[in-house]
Amino acid sequence: MPKVLGVRIAGTGSATPPRVLDNQWFVSKLDTTDEWIRERTGILERRAVVEGESTATLSIEAANNALANAKMSPKDIDAIIVATITPECQFPATASFVQDAIGARTVASFDIAAACSGFIYAFVTAAHMLQAGTFRNIMVIGAETLTRITDYEDRTSCILFGDGAGAVILSPSEGNASSGSAMLNFHLHSDGSGSTMLWVPAGGSRLPASNMTVNERLHFMKMQGREVYKFAVKKMLEMVEETLGEAGLRSEDIAMVVPHQSNKRIIESAREKLGLPESKMYTNIERYGNTSSASIPLGLDDIRRSGRVKNGDYILMAAFGAGLTWASALIRL
Ligand SMILES: CC(C)(COP(=O)(O)OP(=O)(O)OC[C@H]1O[C@@H](n2cnc3c(N)ncnc32)[C@H](O)[C@@H]1OP(=O)(O)O)[C@@H](O)C(=O)NCCC(=O)NCCS
Repeated sequence: MPKVLGVRIAGTGSATPPRVLDNQWFVSKLDTTDEWIRERTGILERRAVVEGESTATLSIEAANNALANAKMSPKDIDAIIVATITPECQFPATASFVQDAIGARTVASFDIAAACSGFIYAFVTAAHMLQAGTFRNIMVIGAETLTRITDYEDRTSCILFGDGAGAVILSPSEGNASSGSAMLNFHLHSDGSGSTMLWVPAGGSRLPASNMTVNERLHFMKMQGREVYKFAVKKMLEMVEETLGEAGLRSEDIAMVVPHQSNKRIIESAREKLGLPESKMYTNIERYGNTSSASIPLGLDDIRRSGRVKNGDYILMAAFGAGLTWASALIRL
């Protein structure tokens, strides 16, 4: 059964650091080529933070842009949720830094870690908080500085990742299954048996940081690329079909699919199987690489601001990532 919640997107914003890492930057450091990277991933460039920039600074910029877009004051925000796997520090939550910096009241502020599915997990959580009627406007942010945990000696993984943040202000609406702004269906999934397929082994309670972990580069991301690829292709298609089917929609009813941006080939494979035209499958991977939980909110902000979608349009978000996790949310704007 589809799960309908009356919520609407009141505003969106994004932030990406100015520093660009193009494919040539990798060619100058590693045994790789621009052609290999383009063909295998679709990525042309990504953004990277420099000293002084962090997951919190990107989150704060995105949040302020979302407030301006929604024409709201920070005082209107009743909760802040940041989805991230590259938090400002181990604790407190990145959301605490955001709450202080944007000048919000002393509202609920917390992080969610569900890797690349994190933004959808946070969005669905916020929608439920709104549905209960105790919160009005919730700031939902997906923010990452993956370049901080990327191993630039591992040519298979380092070419993929970039930094960025996207923010969405979610508010209640009168929408229901047949009309108005609403979330019409969602799925949140996980399978922890694949938890070491994509992870950072050291720096947590299992293997605290030490000289050994630094020497063995265990505080960097480790990825079984081919296995993750197979999982992603399968889950992406399954999720889209399941989420749309239950809501009684077909792929042609959708104005835009905003998928997590991990590899252009994964996105293309889903697009072809669904029979969607290129114009209805959003991508920003060419410019930003894989920004994990930031990729979908960056996309939402882009399609709203560029006028590629309008009120009443159906948008399907779908993501997969470490955990393993996978998640989808179908909304009517
Ligand atoms: C990482 C990824 C792009 C690698 O592409 P692939 O087609 O699977 O490539 P493989 O790992 O099988 O490697 C193929 C060859 O390219 C080589 N190679 C790997 N990285 C390379 C690079 N940057 N440049 C040149 N060659 C490279 C490999 O060494 C291998 O060489 P070999 O055949 O001589 O052994 C792909 O597996 C992928 O995108 N996986 C999913 C990753 C992902 O989405 N992670 C985040 C999830 S949210």
